[in-house]
Amino acid sequence: MNTEMLKIRPRRLRVSPGLRSMVRETSLAVTDFVYPLFVVAGENVHQEIPSMPGVYHLSVDRAVEVAKAAAALGIPSVEIFGLPEYKDEIGSSAWDMASPVQRAIAAIKKAVPELVIVGDVCLCQYTSHGHCGCLAGKYVDNDKTLPLLAKVAVSQADAGADIVAPSDMMDGRVAAIRDALDEAGHQNISIMSYAVKYASGFYGPFRDAADSAPQFGDRRQYQMDPANIREALKETMLDLEEGADIIMVKPAMAYLDVVTRVKEITDCPIACYNVSGEYSMVKAAAANGWIDEKRIVLESLTSMKRAGSDIIITYHALDAARWLAE
Ligand code: PBG
Repeated sequence: MNTEMLKIRPRRLRVSPGLRSMVRETSLAVTDFVYPLFVVAGENVHQEIPSMPGVYHLSVDRAVEVAKAAAALGIPSVEIFGLPEYKDEIGSSAWDMASPVQRAIAAIKKAVPELVIVGDVCLCQYTSHGHCGCLAGKYVDNDKTLPLLAKVAVSQADAGADIVAPSDMMDGRVAAIRDALDEAGHQNISIMSYAVKYASGFYGPFRDAADSAPQFGDRRQYQMDPANIREALKETMLDLEEGADIIMVKPAMAYLDVVTRVKEITDCPIACYNVSGEYSMVKAAAANGWIDEKRIVLESLTSMKRAGSDIIITYHALDAARWLAE
C-alpha cells in the first residue's frame, strides 16, 4: 500500500459535527422557500387534497391563516393557485377580480404585507378544455393566448401580487406581460418566468389538486421535451431578453442538471419548482415507513440549492422551515 497517498485524507474534515459544519459548502435557509397555496371559493374550507397529504384546498379566510403561519415560520413568500367558480373556452375567470385567486392575493397582502405574493399566471385551471391557452381547433393558439395571459398578470398585480409567474409556455408571453404590466403602472412587479418547464409526469397530483388536466391530448405541444437541455438554454435566453427577472426550472429533482446549466449562463436568480409528484412520492414512502421523511426532504432541498437554485418552490416548506429551526 502506498502510505504516501494517505497524507491526504478527506475523512479528517468529517470527524465531528463542528468540523463538518465549517466545511459545508451549501446551506439551506428558510428564506429560500416559496410555499404554494390552492385557494377555492366558499368560507372556512380547509380540505386535504387526497394525492397530496398535508396540502389543502383553502377558502380565502383559511388561506390567510396559512399565509400568516408561513410568515411566522420565516417563509418569505407564497404562490397562489386557484380553482375558479366557472370555466369557459378562453379561461376568463382567470382575470376576474372576484375570483378566489384575486381575492386571496388582496386578503393576504392586507393581513401579512411583508409576505411576497407570487401569482401563478396560466389558463389551464380556468379553461373548459384544460389547456394553458385558447384553442384553434386542437392546437393551442399562441398569439391569441398572449393578451389573455397579460390580462391575468395585470389582474393579479392589481390585486396586490408582487411577482407574476407565467407557467403556460407560450412563446413571447414574458414580453407581452411586461408590456401590459408597465402600461398598467406596475413597473415594479417582477416576472418569475417558468422559462424551462418540461412536459412532465410529475405534475399528476397537481392536476387533481387544481382540476386542470387537459380534456384531450396532453401539453407536449407547448411544454418542453424531457430529453432536451440545449433547448432549456434557448428558452432562458429568450425570456431574459423579453424581461424576465427570475428564471424557473420545473420540475426540480429529475432536472438538477438543467438548473446547473441554466445557472452557468446567467446572473439572474434561478428558481426551481419541487412539484406535486415529487412531493407525493416522498409522502407516500414516508407514510409506509420506508424512508425518513425529514432526512429525505432536507437532503433533496439542499441538493436543489447545491445545483444552483436561489429560490425553491416547495410543498414541504412549512415542515422544512420547522426542521431547520430545530
Ligand atoms: C399550470 C401549472 C402546473 C403546475 C404549476 N402550474 C401544471 C401543469 O403544467 O400541468 C404543476 C405544479 C405541480 O405539479 O406541483 N400550468
